[in-house]
Amino acid sequence: MEKLIIANWKMNPESIAVAKKLFTEVKKTAGKLSNVKTVIAPPFLYIYELSKLYTGNKIEFASQDVFWEKKGSFTGEIGVSMLKNSGVKYVIVGHSERRALGDNDENINKKILASIQSGLAVILCVGEKNRDNKDGVHLSFLAKQLEGALKDVPQNKISKIIIAYEPIWAIGKNEKDAMKSYELHEMVIFIRKTMVNIFGKNSALKIPILYGGSVEIENTETLLTEGMADGLLVGHASLSAREFSDMLKIVQNI
Ligand code: PGA
Repeated sequence: MEKLIIANWKMNPESIAVAKKLFTEVKKTAGKLSNVKTVIAPPFLYIYELSKLYTGNKIEFASQDVFWEKKGSFTGEIGVSMLKNSGVKYVIVGHSERRALGDNDENINKKILASIQSGLAVILCVGEKNRDNKDGVHLSFLAKQLEGALKDVPQNKISKIIIAYEPIWAIGKNEKDAMKSYELHEMVIFIRKTMVNIFGKNSALKIPILYGGSVEIENTETLLTEGMADGLLVGHASLSAREFSDMLKIVQNI
């Protein structure tokens, strides 16, 4: 099955010129891989310019956030139509760095409903801050995040939902601190079960479950093969064209 690899550039790079250079480099590899769909999530400001540099269907663009209202007096916000008109197909919603700035399950849910109604696909980020394996608090926390964010998502829009499991304790570090693939496998099973509880078996089995948090060249393969993730959400490693392209090649050859 085609793997989904998301490049979350966060608030980088500092100029459109550098963004174009990075994209042009990545495109050389990403544009020709048959087993990989690459989704680039640049800052809002760069998306339109970058989308003009590519016309194929192996690379898509994502925004790092979205607002739920259609238009109007919402200073600083960006709505779904603006995104769609700028070449966006996916939106990242509920990233832990946005949650730290005030996003909660309720407004994440509004963002998801507005996005899927308009035809955008949603990459919903969930993940626990700390881990305590003893009493499984992280599991109930995760189930609550998923249930809250996905409330009222209709069955006929489930194909627009992608889950990105990103344990906060593993974000922005290095390969040694990333989640181990056997731990990830357990979490993928748990998230899958939670999806079955919410949506029923038939639909839930089709929802891609990605992993994010210190994905590097070294752990790319095992997170997908042993960890059983359907794709990866890559942060800092996606800012190096060489590193990210090498990761894409690894995924292509799995
Ligand atoms: P990281 O970021 O790969 O730098 O850990 C992942 C993310 O926050 O999406």
